[in-house]
Amino acid sequence: MNVYIPEELAGKVWWVRGQLRDGEGAAVGINYNNEGEALPNRGWHFMTADIPQGLPEPLTFDQPFRFLVLQTAERIDTSVVLDNFTAIYDLDTDLAGPSVIVTPAENETINSKNTTLRLQVFDPSGVDFDHIELSLNGEPISDAEIQNNGEDAFWVELNNLDDGWQRIDYRVFDKLGNASAGDTLFNVDTGDSRIFIGGEHDVIFAGGTFNLPVEVVKPETFRNFTLTLNYDTTKTALNVLAEDMEFDNVTEYPGFWQGTFSGFSENVHTLAQIELTVDGYVQNSAASLVVSGELDGKDFNYPVLKKDIGGKFVVMQDHVIANQQTRIFIADANGEAAPGVDVERVYYDVANDEVIGTEAIGTTDDYGLVRYLPRDEDDSSVELILRAYDHDGASLMSTVMSLTEQLSTAPRHVFFTPGVDSSEVQVTWFTDTAMDATYAYYGKNGNPNQHASMTESEILPFFYGPESGVVRVHHATFTGLEPNTEYSYYVANDFARSETFTFRTDRQDDEVRIHLFGDTQTTNDYNENHGSPLVSEIFDKMSAQLPNPDLIMHVGDLTEDMSDYQLVRQFLEALEGQGRFGSVMFVPTMGNHEVYNEGRYKYESIFKSPANGPFEAPNKQSVYSFDYGNARIAVVNTELFTDEEWQNMMNWLEDDMASSDQTWKVLMLHRPPYEGNKDSGNEWSKRYVPSAVDRAGIDLVVAGHDHMYSRSVTMAGDRPNPSGATYLIAGSASMKFYDADFGGIVPFADVLYDENVHTYTTLHIQGEQMEVQTRNMNGQLIDRVTLTTRESRGF
Ligand SMILES: [Fe+2]
Repeated sequence: MNVYIPEELAGKVWWVRGQLRDGEGAAVGINYNNEGEALPNRGWHFMTADIPQGLPEPLTFDQPFRFLVLQTAERIDTSVVLDNFTAIYDLDTDLAGPSVIVTPAENETINSKNTTLRLQVFDPSGVDFDHIELSLNGEPISDAEIQNNGEDAFWVELNNLDDGWQRIDYRVFDKLGNASAGDTLFNVDTGDSRIFIGGEHDVIFAGGTFNLPVEVVKPETFRNFTLTLNYDTTKTALNVLAEDMEFDNVTEYPGFWQGTFSGFSENVHTLAQIELTVDGYVQNSAASLVVSGELDGKDFNYPVLKKDIGGKFVVMQDHVIANQQTRIFIADANGEAAPGVDVERVYYDVANDEVIGTEAIGTTDDYGLVRYLPRDEDDSSVELILRAYDHDGASLMSTVMSLTEQLSTAPRHVFFTPGVDSSEVQVTWFTDTAMDATYAYYGKNGNPNQHASMTESEILPFFYGPESGVVRVHHATFTGLEPNTEYSYYVANDFARSETFTFRTDRQDDEVRIHLFGDTQTTNDYNENHGSPLVSEIFDKMSAQLPNPDLIMHVGDLTEDMSDYQLVRQFLEALEGQGRFGSVMFVPTMGNHEVYNEGRYKYESIFKSPANGPFEAPNKQSVYSFDYGNARIAVVNTELFTDEEWQNMMNWLEDDMASSDQTWKVLMLHRPPYEGNKDSGNEWSKRYVPSAVDRAGIDLVVAGHDHMYSRSVTMAGDRPNPSGATYLIAGSASMKFYDADFGGIVPFADVLYDENVHTYTTLHIQGEQMEVQTRNMNGQLIDRVTLTTRESRGF
C-alpha cells in the first residue's frame, strides 16, 4: 500500500505491522518493515508485507496497518495516510509508480517570483503523460499549462509567485496505472511581503521555554491571517502571546491552536510570540511544530519546525557501582562543571512514558559534583535514570547503569602473555573492584618469594548481557626471568591469593610447541558445541596431539562479544588453571567480534602484550611481536579501516621482521589475506598483507575468521611459488561454519576442509622444519605436513 509518512515521523524507529485472519479465524501477523528499522523520509512510500503461504483461506484484513512503538516514550501525536491497497501475486510485476525529482528542490529558496517547476520522471513501463495531477498551494494546475517532452520530464511556468513557502503536490502514473505521489515546499524570498517564523534555536532543551516569533515583512499589504499550530502534547506545551497585534477567534485544545490576526499596519513587526515549553522529563527526542493557516484567502504553507531536544545539563557518567559511594559529575551543555544544580533519580515507566516518582540526590558543588550511594537492588545491575535541573532547564533523563560486582576477593582467570622479551611475562587476573591492591609473587625452585616489579589494575564496567557488572582486571610483570627455568607464581591482594602455578620459560632452543585455534566465539546459549565446554575439549585434544605446549595461539573471535562479561568469563574459565592458562603462555589476536560495542577497549584493558606495534590505545596491545624459541611471531589487528593505519602497520611489520634473525617468521591475524569465502570482508587484509609478507620474508601466515580449515601451497606475488609463504586458516571452534566458494584461497589450497565439523591444529617447530597437524573433533586427520622456512628452501 502507499503510506504517507509525515515529517515528524521520518526516521522514527517504529515497527510497521499488520494482522490478517485466516479461514479458521487465527491471527496472522505481517511486517511492512523489520523491528528496529527506521521509517523512511517524509512523503509517500509503497510499503509491502509478505503473506505466509499455505494459510487456510479465505484471508481477511483484521488490522491492515499498525505502528508498533515498543517504548511509549517514543510515541508522538501524528497521523498517516494510507492509499492504494494492492494484492501482489507476482513479484515480477511492475508495482511501483515513476520515480520523480522535483525542481525547485525541497526547502530550496529562490529569489525570483517566476520559475519553471520541473518534474523529472522515470519508469521502466513508461510514464503516462496524459494523467498528471499537479497543484500549487492546493490549487490544481490545468493540463493546458503543463508541457512535457513525452519521455522523461514535464514542467510548468510559475509566474507572480508570492513571497513565502510554496507547496507543490503531484501524482504521476506509469502506463500500468501505478502512481507516485508527493509534496514538496520551496521558498520564494525577493524581499517582498511575507510572514515567517523567526527565532532560530539550534538546540532546545528539556524543561526550557522557547520563543518563536511570528514575523512579518511589509505588513501593510496583508489584511487577514489565520495561524494554525499543531504540536506534540507528549513533549511540549504551547502558548501564543500577542505582541504588535491582537488576535481573536481563538480555538484551542491540547495539541492545537488557531487564531486570526487582522488589522495589519506598517508598525507591525512581530505579530505574536509562539511560546513552546518542553517537558522537563524527556529522553533523547525531537519536538515538532506543524505550522499552517490561511493568508488573505490563500493557503499559508510552512515547513514543519522540527528541533532536537537536548539537555541544559549533561550527566557525565555512564555507570556507578552498586553500594559504593560515588560522585557524579554534572556539566553544562559546553561540558563545563555545573555548580548549584539539583540532581534526582527518576522512577520512570518507559512503557507508559510516565514518571512514577523521583528521589532527590543532592545539589552539585563548585566542581559540578554530587555524592551518591546507589543502593543494590536484587543484587543485579540495574538502569538508573538520573536528571539534573535548575529553575529553567534540565538534562535529558539519562541512563546510568548501577553495576554489581561479578567477582569476589579471590583472584580468577589467571593467564599470562608475552613480555617485551623472553626475560619477561605479563600476568593478568580478575577480582571484584574493591581489591585495589595488586600483588604477584614469583620465583625459582618452587619458591615464589619475589615481588612482581610492575603491577596495575583497572575497573572494567560491562554493560551488556545477563552478567552486566563490574570487575577489576589486574596486571603484573615478572622480570629478570632466566631461560629454560621453571618458575612458581601466585597473585594476591589484601584478602585472598590464587593457587600457585608453575611455568617454564622459553628454552631458547630451536623447538616451539604451539596449540593453534580460533573463532571460539563463546556464546551464552550453553550449546555444547558452542562455547566454554568446546574450548576446553579442543584444548584437551590439542594437548593429546602435542603435549606440553609452549604457546596457546588464538587467531581471534575469542567470544561472541568482548563487551559482554558472561562471554569473556566463559572463554577464560574454559582454559583456567594449571596445565592451561595458568602455565602456558597465551598469544591472542583481535578479531571482528572483539570490536562490538566497547569490545576494542575491553580487549585493550585485558590482553597485555609487548605493545611494540605502531599504535596507541585502543590498538596498542593488539599489534605486537615477540620471540619464542627460534621463531619471531608477529600479531596484527585486521580490525582497522583506513589505508593510513594499514600502511603504518605493514611498515612496522616489515621493519620488525627485518630486525629479527630468528629461523622462523610467523604472522598471526584474524581476517585471512586469501579468504575462504566471499563474505569474509578481508579486503584490507588482501590488499596489504601478501605483499608485506613477501617483503618481510614471513614463512607462515595464520588466520581465522572464515570458519574452515585451509592451507595453501607456498605463495609469493599472489601466485604459487616455491619461494613463498604458507597461508593457513585455522578452522572453526564454534557452531558457525562457512563453505568455500571459488575465489580467495581455493585455487591455491593444498588442503581445504569446509565440512561442518570443528578442527584444531598443532604446530611443532623443530629447527627449520614445522610439523602442521590438523584433526577434526572426531579425530580424523585433515592435514599433516612439514613446512620449511623460505631460507632453508634456498630463498
Ligand atoms: Fe571473525
